[in-house]
Amino acid sequence: MNKTHLHDILVIGSGAAGASLALRLADHYRVAVLSKGPLNSGSTWYAQGGVAAVLDDEDSIESHIQDTLVAGGGLCHEDAVRFTVENGPAVITWLVEQGMDFTRDPGTGDFHLTREGGHSHRRILHTADATGKAVSSTLIEQMLAHPNIEVFEDHIIVDLITQSDHNSRKLRCSGAYVLDRAKDTVCTFQARCVVLATGGASKVYLYSTSPDGASGDGIAAAWRKGCRVANLEFNQFHPTCLYHPQARSFLLTEALRGEGAYLRLPDGERFMPRFHELAELAPRDIVARAIDHEMKRLGSECVYLDITHKSPDFIQSHFPTIREECLKYGFDITRDRVPVVPAAHYTCGGVLTDLQGRTDLKNLYAIGETASTGLHGANRMASNSLLECLVFGWSASEHIRQVIDSIPTPEKAPPWDESRVTHSDEDVVISHNWEELRSFMWDYVGIVRTRKRLERAEHRIKMLIREIHEYYSNYKISRDLIELRNLALVAQLIIRSAQQRRESRGLHYTLDHPQQSPIAQDTILVPTNFAAQDIIVSRP
Ligand code: FAD
Ligand code: SIN
Repeated sequence: MNKTHLHDILVIGSGAAGASLALRLADHYRVAVLSKGPLNSGSTWYAQGGVAAVLDDEDSIESHIQDTLVAGGGLCHEDAVRFTVENGPAVITWLVEQGMDFTRDPGTGDFHLTREGGHSHRRILHTADATGKAVSSTLIEQMLAHPNIEVFEDHIIVDLITQSDHNSRKLRCSGAYVLDRAKDTVCTFQARCVVLATGGASKVYLYSTSPDGASGDGIAAAWRKGCRVANLEFNQFHPTCLYHPQARSFLLTEALRGEGAYLRLPDGERFMPRFHELAELAPRDIVARAIDHEMKRLGSECVYLDITHKSPDFIQSHFPTIREECLKYGFDITRDRVPVVPAAHYTCGGVLTDLQGRTDLKNLYAIGETASTGLHGANRMASNSLLECLVFGWSASEHIRQVIDSIPTPEKAPPWDESRVTHSDEDVVISHNWEELRSFMWDYVGIVRTRKRLERAEHRIKMLIREIHEYYSNYKISRDLIELRNLALVAQLIIRSAQQRRESRGLHYTLDHPQQSPIAQDTILVPTNFAAQDIIVSRP
């Protein structure tokens, strides 16, 4: 018999979003936190640059808001931007109370603030060049110490569970079917509120800075249960990922450019001033596109990041992790310029939510990279993402606190039925399809798009989805199969969103419509099993 777990709140994801929400609620409720692998396997652990927040007297909330709106290409929702930025200082204080250690200025003892693209002030709090590791460790330590939080590593959600709400025809979310990898069985998790904090979907692309788990599981699961998704065509490509056959897409933080690093062509030319007045600190979409353009123009495999004009002591103290990692591949960043290429980095769109993280399905919340809150618009500004995780971790927890006592304990869900599936003897189908999908998404739905390329991708994804569906219906599930099924669905949603946007804006650039249209509109996709009266999230 498959096991059923019952908690007040089920949090799916242990990154900055899920962990911060869990900690906010755990003093009063019993919380389950699931993670696909170890607790630190999400993108949060790998974050380098830092967390943006207004803490300097010379800086202002209005300036952070303006910079975010500009980077977002006219598509940010100003209410979401204002909400996030205004709550920034408070969530930083909370994080420090949890034990977070940000780098301090040795002279003043204040937090050292660095700079990244799009920010007109120094406002990035960081822990040297390994901020995510410090954020993750702090939150994980607190979660493990909390008696009301039960963590489940190597537990992967397959699908969400719904039931009718107070016997009406409307549905509410009441849990999830979850693959317990150690036991190789699917168990049931039930809760009064469910929170998707599963991170992004950058693994839909062949080259990505993100860890393997970034397969859009939460986005796909929410869509399958009738939630709308928004702005999925905006995939952010980070401009500077180490280019080396053995380096698994290692990121070279934008803070390097924030502290003065230049981008150079193979002949040494510093080319960014030709593309934007902010040169290397232009918004990320512009820098990535400029690199792509120059690489194609010259037929070169990479460009170079060069910080050798700074003192070795400065480089070592600000970027110790990056220096050490690059040394493994034969580059000393104090002396050598480093080969770099753009790689998929961040999913700006996601499950449509309001400012409290509510989705279209009652009692289901989405926060962090999984969500589309309206903050990022057509291009996320650097270091606004960890900030968003912390702010929405807090705001969703506040909403849950208000409603949870009125939500009845879920009815027992039927157990997962595996009676008609068998073990596959053809796992190669999964690895082959996984690779094919990520290759054609890179080639056809990448930094520069065309109508024809999107049509090709649409055709391929339909065939793949048919094949994956057949496989999924006949064989026992595994982590790889769950991820492939989700990646294929999210890829289809990305392609469909890109086809709907007949203009170039922010991260979506198409040669067929190079101009930006005068009216900025979200791309909102509506699942077919969705009725207008089910909408509970409204976004102006
Ligand atoms: P994640 O941290 O990705 O966590 C997702 C969680 O969900 C994990 O615990 C995972 O195991 C779990 N999960 C996923 N699927 C399932 C499933 N099916 N079942 C159960 N659990 C599941 N942003 C910044 O603001 N500043 C930076 O400096 C910065 N640097 C970055 C550097 C790199 C290399 C990368 C990849 C991203 C960076 N970002 C940065 C972006 C930022 O790190 C992420 O957007 C953010 O950490 C996402 O947090 P999250 O909590 O939403 O998800
Ligand atoms: C980086 O350090 O360059 C990543 C920052 C971010 O993605 O916000």
